[in-house]
Amino acid sequence: MALLMRFFTLVVNVLCLPLHLMEAVGLYKIYKHIFPICLYRLSISYNKKMHDKKLELFRSLSEFKKPGKQLTVLEIGCGTGTNFKYYLAGCKVICTDPNPNFQKYLKTSITENDQLTYEKFLVASGEDMGAIEDESVDAVVCTLVLCSVNSIPQTLREVHRILRPGGGFFFMEHVVADPSTWAYFFQHVLQPVWYYFGDGCEVTRETWKHLEAAGFSDLKLRHVDAPLIFLIKPHIMGYAVK
Ligand SMILES: C[S@@+](CC[C@H](N)C(=O)[O-])C[C@H]1O[C@@H](n2cnc3c(N)ncnc32)[C@H](O)[C@@H]1O
Repeated sequence: MALLMRFFTLVVNVLCLPLHLMEAVGLYKIYKHIFPICLYRLSISYNKKMHDKKLELFRSLSEFKKPGKQLTVLEIGCGTGTNFKYYLAGCKVICTDPNPNFQKYLKTSITENDQLTYEKFLVASGEDMGAIEDESVDAVVCTLVLCSVNSIPQTLREVHRILRPGGGFFFMEHVVADPSTWAYFFQHVLQPVWYYFGDGCEVTRETWKHLEAAGFSDLKLRHVDAPLIFLIKPHIMGYAVK
């Protein structure tokens, strides 16, 4: 089976040669302008299907609010701002994304969620958020981002640096399927093409292993089956405490 999987992955890689070439010569960057339009529509559908799970996840945000103080949340890879509606009313939001082309959608999300205070939007990758001070936020949020970052360990080091002691890192991410399933087979075979349409997204990541190794004092992590297509059905969700 492993051999068959490698063979079909190779075939898909060969079919993707024009896309590999476009990336090599820098033409793929154009997609950074198109992706926000696609993501805006996909996020609406994702939130509909994952609404209950998001409600459940973000309910725990309040545990990280210090009495009498405003809760400060930093969101990494915020995209269109699709999570804002789940945040505790009155909390302060700092958001970051390396793609600056989300501004139009972010503005809409900000207008629709005026129960929050928005401090700033930074164009930054999760691996390097140097503009944010050490131990300065109560919670960091990441949804569908760890599949796209260049380095999960480096992003988690940044999360750890920025969180105050006792702060929480909230995540909801799709991950690789069980190796005994057809979903695992097709995740690997279709990965080369999915990478391009998903703006660098990888469906074959064992993200939970990085979270377990990141040195958090507590990790509440659940594997769940999301009501989505098989490629992104296996999810992990939960939070880690610094
Ligand atoms: C699938 S979208 C998810 C957006 C949003 N978090 C959501 O749940 O709808 C992936 C996001 O990760 C961002 N991203 C890609 N590489 C990143 C990196 N290295 N660091 C932080 N964000 C990144 C993309 O620009 C995009 O906004």
